[in-house]
Amino acid sequence: MAIIYKYSFAKKIIETNTIVGNNYNDVKELPQEIIYENNEIRINLNPKDVVYGLGQSTRGMNKRGGIYSNFCSDVVMHLEESPSLYGAHNFLLIHRDNPIALFFDTPSKVTFDVGFTDSNLIRITMEEWNGACFFIKGENSLDIIKEFRILIGESYLPPLYGFGYQQSRWGYKNEEDIKNVVDKYEENDIPLDAVYLDIDYMERFKDFTINSEAFPNLKDFIANLKQKGIHLIPIIDAGVKIESGYDVYEEGIKNNYFCQDENGNPFIASVWPGLVHFPDFLNSNASKWFGSHYKKLISLGLDGFWNDMNEPAIFYTPKRLEIAIKAVKETKDTLDLNVYDYWALLGNFEKLANNILDYKDMYHVVENKKLNHYDVHNLYGYNMVKGTSEYFKENYKERMFLISRSSCIGMHRYSGIWTGDNRSWWSHLELNIKMMPNLNMVGFLYSGADTGGFGSDATRELVCRWLEFSLFTPLFRNHSSIGTRNQELYNFSNPKEFSNLIKLRYALMPYLYSEYLKALKNNTLLFTPLALKYQNDECCLEIEDELIVGDSIMIAPVYKPNTTKRYVYLPEDMLLVRFRGYNDYDTKKMSKGHHFISVKLFEVLVFILPGKMLLLTEPKNSTSKLNMLDLIAIANVNPTAKYEYFLDDGKYINSEIKKYEIVANEEKTIIKL
Ligand code: GLC
Repeated sequence: MAIIYKYSFAKKIIETNTIVGNNYNDVKELPQEIIYENNEIRINLNPKDVVYGLGQSTRGMNKRGGIYSNFCSDVVMHLEESPSLYGAHNFLLIHRDNPIALFFDTPSKVTFDVGFTDSNLIRITMEEWNGACFFIKGENSLDIIKEFRILIGESYLPPLYGFGYQQSRWGYKNEEDIKNVVDKYEENDIPLDAVYLDIDYMERFKDFTINSEAFPNLKDFIANLKQKGIHLIPIIDAGVKIESGYDVYEEGIKNNYFCQDENGNPFIASVWPGLVHFPDFLNSNASKWFGSHYKKLISLGLDGFWNDMNEPAIFYTPKRLEIAIKAVKETKDTLDLNVYDYWALLGNFEKLANNILDYKDMYHVVENKKLNHYDVHNLYGYNMVKGTSEYFKENYKERMFLISRSSCIGMHRYSGIWTGDNRSWWSHLELNIKMMPNLNMVGFLYSGADTGGFGSDATRELVCRWLEFSLFTPLFRNHSSIGTRNQELYNFSNPKEFSNLIKLRYALMPYLYSEYLKALKNNTLLFTPLALKYQNDECCLEIEDELIVGDSIMIAPVYKPNTTKRYVYLPEDMLLVRFRGYNDYDTKKMSKGHHFISVKLFEVLVFILPGKMLLLTEPKNSTSKLNMLDLIAIANVNPTAKYEYFLDDGKYINSEIKKYEIVANEEKTIIKL
């Protein structure tokens, strides 16, 4: 049992709508262990305390030793030291004997120094404290997480097709490119449920338009793909192109739906289409209006979207570009610059993108109150998604697929996220693995990274290892940037091996989907750190590269190059299933303790916990064709194994979840429900 307390700061800027539960008690003071003085919140750490949380953030699962600024940011080249990523998730859990968690409910930037300046001290700062600090106490960290998840409300549930394999690339230009991808996947017998449309499907990057030269028969094209069980997912960006005659622009101007500058004129910035205005998503009328534009695309048969650049990302503002150009003009006759002047000159250009000063020049009007964007920045992407999702729910019975790049806590009720522009780096695969439990804690169950890496060139080996991990993440998307090596699986040698991997994901769908529904309904984690499951086992405290996935299994992904063996710690006796394909595997009973296990490329190791089982079905090339009731159980019988199987129709918003009790007495059992 865990108890939540809410301490409100004197200042409140706006209603954030991050929480929905009333499972908390208002208090006038913070507890003794949370010191609030000199505008700083401090908490002492014991050397062995593990600090989880902060959802999407860099570094390890344990956040100790880092400094993080939660301010939704477009960080295309994120490194270990990057303070901010795309999401702002102000939740920290100190895992120790008397665990405690904190959640800062605020739209503004919060900085968490988690043992960076002083290794046994957490220091949390905000320019001016506003909103509320929720603190949660309990005997067990998992109870705390559960209570927090009840507070913030049930996570987003995508349609079943969202769990299939998805192919994306910024660079598909027209119908032919997409058709080629689909054909090649088919030829190579690799399952596929979705292909993404990146910015080039639009007419000059204008939201809710179609480039009709590139897609002359989009409606028929969509219908034909759907017959194969493949969905197209177009991108929608936050910025609306300034262009007279363009309906979205005209309507936005007419109704004052755009963010303003200090003089009350629409704020101007530049993103993909050139100069744009940003819809004022914090104004509920504007966000509803923007949401209603999806109708145009839905009427073509589309049923999934990705909302992008919604931090909002800014390439430059005319105001700041002018300053930079002026500086160049002034220096043009002085080519002999000292280094500081040279850096200053360059800096004018380097600091054009996502400049804080631009965010400070931008305003929202909420209930007739003018709010500076900088103060409420973290709510922007959230409210874009909320408007989109509310429009869907009011108008359609089917679940729409929706992911967003920017996020904050609360948004998890409306959509999933992808983890932004990563790179084809081994370190970003490792980051992906370590981030998943922290994302789950803050409600983002439907999430995953750009598998294979978005930027940089990927090798076959990296793509293989990344798929081996991502085949357990709900969002399973291969996405890459224009200008990088082609990353579609058929581009690598021996695509048959990739086909086996993706088929394994489809075979595992009964288990993965059931566990997703359970995590959503029971407010539990889909990815659990070993330290939280085996709280009395000291060995588990520092393990960050093995994860419990759902209720039955543990995984130990490979995330290093040139590796065919890895060290695995088993906190209890388990059954190792070494998959080379869904029906090509062997099993081995393994005892609790330390192991060095061989894991060749294209092998997936799954460790089944005692008395638990994995459910598989015959894979098909689309989730729409899977038979989720005709199953094979692979069980670690001890002496029997039990499983509660959750299943719904995978389609409708209000579909009922059926629960089946499955019992197995042997390692392999055929189950027909
Ligand atoms: C952003 C997105 C990326 C997309 C690109 C072009 O960088 O994060 O996924 O491909 O924009 O739209």
